[in-house]
Amino acid sequence: MIETPLTPTLPSQLATPLHIGKVVVQSRVLQSPLSGVTDLVFRRLVRRYAPHSMMYTEMVNATELHHLQELPKIMEVDPQEKPISIQLFDCRPDFLAEAAEKAVAEGADTIDINMGCPVNKITKKGGGSSLLRQPEVATAIVREVVNAVDVPVTVKTRIGWDDGEITILDFARRMQDAGAQMITVHGRTRAQGYNGNARWEWIQRVKAVVGIPVIANGDIFSVEAAVKCLQETGADGVMCSRGTLGYPFLVGEIDYFLQTGKKLPPPTSQELLECAKEHLEALWVYKGKRGIQQARKHMTWYTKGFNGAAELRMQLSLIETVEQGLDLLNRGIEMLNREQNGA
Ligand SMILES: Cc1cc2nc3c(=O)[nH]c(=O)nc-3n(C[C@H](O)[C@H](O)[C@H](O)COP(=O)(O)O)c2cc1C
Repeated sequence: MIETPLTPTLPSQLATPLHIGKVVVQSRVLQSPLSGVTDLVFRRLVRRYAPHSMMYTEMVNATELHHLQELPKIMEVDPQEKPISIQLFDCRPDFLAEAAEKAVAEGADTIDINMGCPVNKITKKGGGSSLLRQPEVATAIVREVVNAVDVPVTVKTRIGWDDGEITILDFARRMQDAGAQMITVHGRTRAQGYNGNARWEWIQRVKAVVGIPVIANGDIFSVEAAVKCLQETGADGVMCSRGTLGYPFLVGEIDYFLQTGKKLPPPTSQELLECAKEHLEALWVYKGKRGIQQARKHMTWYTKGFNGAAELRMQLSLIETVEQGLDLLNRGIEMLNREQNGA
């Protein structure tokens, strides 16, 4: 993606709190929900650098939740982590309302409804981005969830189903009228998946037609991209997604810039690998063997941009135990230190 130089012309309100209904958030940079990624362990890392940012759980299936006796691990929230939103998906207003009640009991500061997921398994059942094609159902969902809980209800969606059906302006208005207190817009259609550029111009148009906060999402991979997006869209905040994979520093870096106008120095490769070690160990403690399986992809995301990274990445993708992973990462750090010292 093409980056432009930083300019000092950011609107001053970007350093002021974000109001999501009655919830006041001291940061306008949000960590997106990422299925398979934004568990409690990952959120803890992001929050170290972005203590005031809104974070989201992975999306939770409301129908599944209805049939479960216990809360699934993906819904678990640390009592200390605030502000936190629990994201739900489904097409049944009654199950979503019930799930929202459970989410609030778990500590959610807001309830987010996923209306953007492009995955077939979910859209075929009427959830995620298929709700863009069923605005009456989407409206009923928001109404029923708003009635069920006393925390703000928000919606995360895309600009439309495909290029022939970019319906976001009407859809955003409907969500607002139904009681949504914030809308996050990923500037791609469902048909785009994650391809092509996010079309931020649509986010600017959404901002012009609703009064609730609009959060811009899509292709925020750097401080520069966040600044450009905020300038172009006039959005009330930005949400980071793939840019945080193997890089839990991004939300904090952008937030720091919005607050101070200054850029933090990026972490060194050694610091990234130290972070990977911490992530791996925490996943092991929190999830055991399953944590190691999940850690493999995280480890490969951390290992980029230095000599020997490809080899390390390949080995990390095969780890079976926490010790193997830590050993590989320690060797990577030693290699980088030797290289730095000219050995
Ligand atoms: C691995 C992965 C998991 C995702 N899981 C979710 C999810 O659970 N809920 C959701 O609303 N969006 C989910 N998304 C979409 C992102 O939150 C975001 O909208 C999208 O990646 C666009 O932003 P980006 O271009 O900055 O990555 C996921 C995306 C990825 C890549």
